[in-house]
Amino acid sequence: MLSGSIEEEASALQTAIKQGVFSSSTLQRFSAMDVGNESGSLNLGGTKGLNPAVKTAQEFYTRRGISNPVVIVLRMERQENSQQFNPDNGAELTPPRQFNLMFKTYVGPVESEENVAYLRPETAQAIFAQFKTVLEVSRQKVPFGIAQIGKAFRNEINPRNFTFRSREFEQMELEFFIRPDEAVEAIAARVASAAEIGNRKSEIGNSDWGWEAWHKYWVEQRIDWYESIGLPRASLEEYWQKKEELAHYARATVDILYKFPFGTQELEGIAARSDFDLSQHQHFSGKTMGVFDDELKAAWMKLDEAKQKELWQRYHDARLKYLTQTGVPSEEAATQAREDAGGLAQGNYVPHVIEPSAGVDRLILALICHAYSEDQAPDEKGKLETRVVMRFHPRIAPVKAAVFPLLKNRPELVQKARQVRDLLRPHLTVFYDEAGAIGRRYRRQDEAGTPFGVTIDFDTLGEKGPELKDTVTLRERDSMKQERVKIGDLLPLLLEKVR
Ligand code: GLY
Repeated sequence: MLSGSIEEEASALQTAIKQGVFSSSTLQRFSAMDVGNESGSLNLGGTKGLNPAVKTAQEFYTRRGISNPVVIVLRMERQENSQQFNPDNGAELTPPRQFNLMFKTYVGPVESEENVAYLRPETAQAIFAQFKTVLEVSRQKVPFGIAQIGKAFRNEINPRNFTFRSREFEQMELEFFIRPDEAVEAIAARVASAAEIGNRKSEIGNSDWGWEAWHKYWVEQRIDWYESIGLPRASLEEYWQKKEELAHYARATVDILYKFPFGTQELEGIAARSDFDLSQHQHFSGKTMGVFDDELKAAWMKLDEAKQKELWQRYHDARLKYLTQTGVPSEEAATQAREDAGGLAQGNYVPHVIEPSAGVDRLILALICHAYSEDQAPDEKGKLETRVVMRFHPRIAPVKAAVFPLLKNRPELVQKARQVRDLLRPHLTVFYDEAGAIGRRYRRQDEAGTPFGVTIDFDTLGEKGPELKDTVTLRERDSMKQERVKIGDLLPLLLEKVR
């Protein structure tokens, strides 16, 4: 800590830099504010005690893990009514700058404005853009979904935290299109509550399911799916976002979190996004994203007038809210909302959407974290040794079965083993390995997480009697148990376990 006049400190700093006391990596520029100093005097420290701005800076760097930070005062200047400083740490803020979270590029050889393209920040938008085409060519009716998996790119300001905030990642999203609640009520005379859905999964597609029911359904489905690929229920958490955390268009969002060994992190968000996305595409492309629902039209005609009016009004109000929130001028919004509500009475609406959106990379990390384990297994001589084993659920294990001839220098064993490999290979990912002691080969597959090992030995050739001819040893990775299985039964048995 230097103190004295600013000139003296600046000169001392220059000397210190010249002498190599500091390098640019250890020097940080920092402007700090002496918040609330109303005395009017600039306290430079020295005999008057520690300058509060210097104190703020010191405390800030100490909190960041730098022990005994040296603060050198280069300049003092009075600020009044300034918003240029971060109130948390007194640091001077730069003027506002535009951040671009999209990756911009040019398609084709010419770098011109017509050739500007953006790498997609999510897989979802192409689904919305293609919604009408998919609806028409696949002859679907609402409710139905479109799923997509692929790369997404975000120009993160601050990529960090390993795979959890990276600029390029793999995403998988489902856009599940549903009727607006007013249409559901017109058709089914009621809208099921979310609470009812827990016990009514078998009734999928029931006409009284509105957004709450479908949202709940997809939360349950997604949790079931994580369980089905090996993540125990107890390792997962559901987080229902609070009202103030929701995006402005979202009615509800549930995050599914996984308890990683280093902390709980999100795997997926399941959002009820109203008709916001398709409406935005409709607005900016000028192409209708509405659908015609003949069931709705028929049901509407049978409603009494009071019900028609009530549903008309609710739909109108929701559309007006969306239009106003997205900046449509009030007169235009009022006309448009009336038209939209009139359209509903004719069986037309913009579908609402439930969107499960998951990060694939982080899921793979969760699966790896869950699968990794060490236990004790006997070596060739029966002595216990530590075994590393990836306990992947057979459904997601990269290799499903390994096939081994007991000895590689016995052509009859090798030939038979290759026959077994060729029998399985069209149906399963199979690894064939004939090199080394059988125990070592098992161990290699344990490390790769292969759930089943199939060994062809002398019994298979019938050398120990006809009853064992054409049977193999099937070894299970986790229990290391071995059983004798007929070659003819092998494929159905394995398929049942890996599907
Ligand atoms: N579609 C939601 C997201 O990409 O986060």
